[in-house]
Amino acid sequence: MMIRDETPADHATIAALLRAAFAGSAEARLVEDLRAGGLVISALVAVESAAVVGHVMFSRLSLEFDGVPRKGASLAPLAVATSHRSRGIGSSLVAAGLERLARNGVEAVVVLGSPAYYGRFGFSAELASRLEAPFRGAAFMALELVPGALAGERGSVHYPEAFGLASHEGRDLT
Ligand SMILES: CC(C)(COP(=O)(O)OP(=O)(O)OC[C@H]1O[C@@H](n2cnc3c(N)ncnc32)[C@H](O)[C@@H]1OP(=O)(O)O)[C@@H](O)C(=O)NCCC(=O)NCCS
Repeated sequence: MMIRDETPADHATIAALLRAAFAGSAEARLVEDLRAGGLVISALVAVESAAVVGHVMFSRLSLEFDGVPRKGASLAPLAVATSHRSRGIGSSLVAAGLERLARNGVEAVVVLGSPAYYGRFGFSAELASRLEAPFRGAAFMALELVPGALAGERGSVHYPEAFGLASHEGRDLT
């Protein structure tokens, strides 16, 4: 298995992978909108025997903490082909992406997902709880790539329109 940046030649395969993994087209549309908006910081594919078997996208989002603008990113979506799960591919994609983000100067990353899964990379709901965001609860997590980026009183994140969150303000995901 190897991990590399996605290319336009991968887009159709990635869309199919996302539609299968999420049983719908919302995530496939999200990655298209994030690409079209020029918001992608890093998008990676896992390739095995020349086939794309996993994908992750990290995109820009606006973040401030205690009035200080921070370079923020969102991790979404992450998907691995059913046939290739539980072999560490999802973890490798996340780890490789976080490394690239850190090299890009990203200071903090947020994700919406399973605490049991994302906790292993250091994502924490406690850290995210001081961020004003469209989400609250255990599934909304944050990770500092620069120590102290989310230290202080309060902050906020604003997701780009591509996430279509306008109608979900303050959704409780506990
Ligand atoms: C989540 C996903 C990307 C994990 O990919 P993967 O390559 O299987 O991940 P890894 O091999 O790194 O880790 C697998 C472990 O994570 C666990 N795991 C997977 N999904 C999980 C979830 N939603 N909550 C908690 N644990 C989860 C598995 O049980 C497995 O545990 P094990 O190692 O003890 O067997 C994959 O299951 C997937 O594509 N799911 C459908 C789409 C999705 O839900 N994406 C995440 C959105 S937040």
